Amino acid sequence: MTVAPPMLGSAVRHEWLLDPDFVSVNHGSFGATPRIVLAAQQDWQRRMEAQTGRFFRSLLPDALRHAAEQLAAFIGADGQDVVFVENATVGCNAVLRSLALTAGDEVLVLTHGYGAVRNAVRYVTERVGARMIEAALPFPRPDADAIVASIAAALTSRTKLAVIDHITSGSALLLPLQRIVASCHDAGVPVLVDGAHGPGQVALDMRALGADWYVGNCHKWLCAAKGCGFLWAAPERQAGLHPVTISHGFGNGYLAEFDWTGTRDCSAWLSVGVAIDFHARLGGAALRERNVALAAEATSLLSRRLNTEPGAVGALAGAMGLVRLPLTGPVTAARSLRIRERLLDAGTDAPTHVIDDSLWLRLSAHAYNEIADYERLAEITALVLREAV
Ligand SMILES: Cc1ncc(COP(=O)(O)O)c(C=O)c1O
Repeated sequence: MTVAPPMLGSAVRHEWLLDPDFVSVNHGSFGATPRIVLAAQQDWQRRMEAQTGRFFRSLLPDALRHAAEQLAAFIGADGQDVVFVENATVGCNAVLRSLALTAGDEVLVLTHGYGAVRNAVRYVTERVGARMIEAALPFPRPDADAIVASIAAALTSRTKLAVIDHITSGSALLLPLQRIVASCHDAGVPVLVDGAHGPGQVALDMRALGADWYVGNCHKWLCAAKGCGFLWAAPERQAGLHPVTISHGFGNGYLAEFDWTGTRDCSAWLSVGVAIDFHARLGGAALRERNVALAAEATSLLSRRLNTEPGAVGALAGAMGLVRLPLTGPVTAARSLRIRERLLDAGTDAPTHVIDDSLWLRLSAHAYNEIADYERLAEITALVLREAV
């Protein structure tokens, strides 16, 4: 007997709390949490509040490890190598602030790296007289060989770490991660992967990837509750790795240090298993493939309707797509912000980003989206661009 694939698009939209009158095509920024995950999260909160002392002392430690095991199975890892953090920014900060850098050392980032993480690199380098160095990504016609070569060429004997995005934020590039990790390791440089967009958008296998640290967000593409991030550290990278907040577990090892950093609401982490099950129910690998295909179709539709060009296509594209906005006149951050606000007021949330000297519109494709959403997005965008922006 064959099992029919699940219906997607508007047929499953009721699973979320999404506003039916709004064109939600920006899953990439903050995710969207389905009702079933919110219910599971609230269940954990009720248990926490019913017998607080018992919850924190007796229930939480094992429940947290159980959730870490569930997540580890999803990302091809061992549970004892996975800890929860609130988000990718916190996870990257933990790794960066655990580095023993000295004057003259370098930390490599990408020109398309996420602003908050680049700031964290600036912070840890500037305070000791080390340097942040950059590898440029070829854009808008990226090429895997050129990306790997650009990163390899930027490394020097002083480079102590490479921070590599799995999927870049504004430019939505799915980078050839395995090749980049191997190339950095050949040069003796460990790799921290900023995988904020990885879990739920692409298949993950920590063991096969062989990075040193991988930080991921489950509240984006895996649809976990907000505040569900994780840090995976290779066993040989766990000694000397500390959370941003030092607490009772200090000196007692990786899990003890990260599992308790003070009283906090862990319900987003404890309900991650429900998000993983939900992802599987929507198709798992088939859902991820369908989202990538839908993003490609949507990108092509928008490029045609707006008479413009798309960003990356093919192997370097995931479930987010980019189109260059056909604007005349100077492109500034202020103009980008103005267009974003006009789009929001007009009923959609696709963000705009300035890359080099152009303004790009980013769209996302998740289970609840269908091609009609991008028809609407194209109409709204054309309308906004016709006004003086
Ligand atoms: C590449 C990348 N890194 C880090 C982040 C930060 O995620 P968070 O705000 O959940 O820490 C984002 C958010 O969009 C991102 O795109």
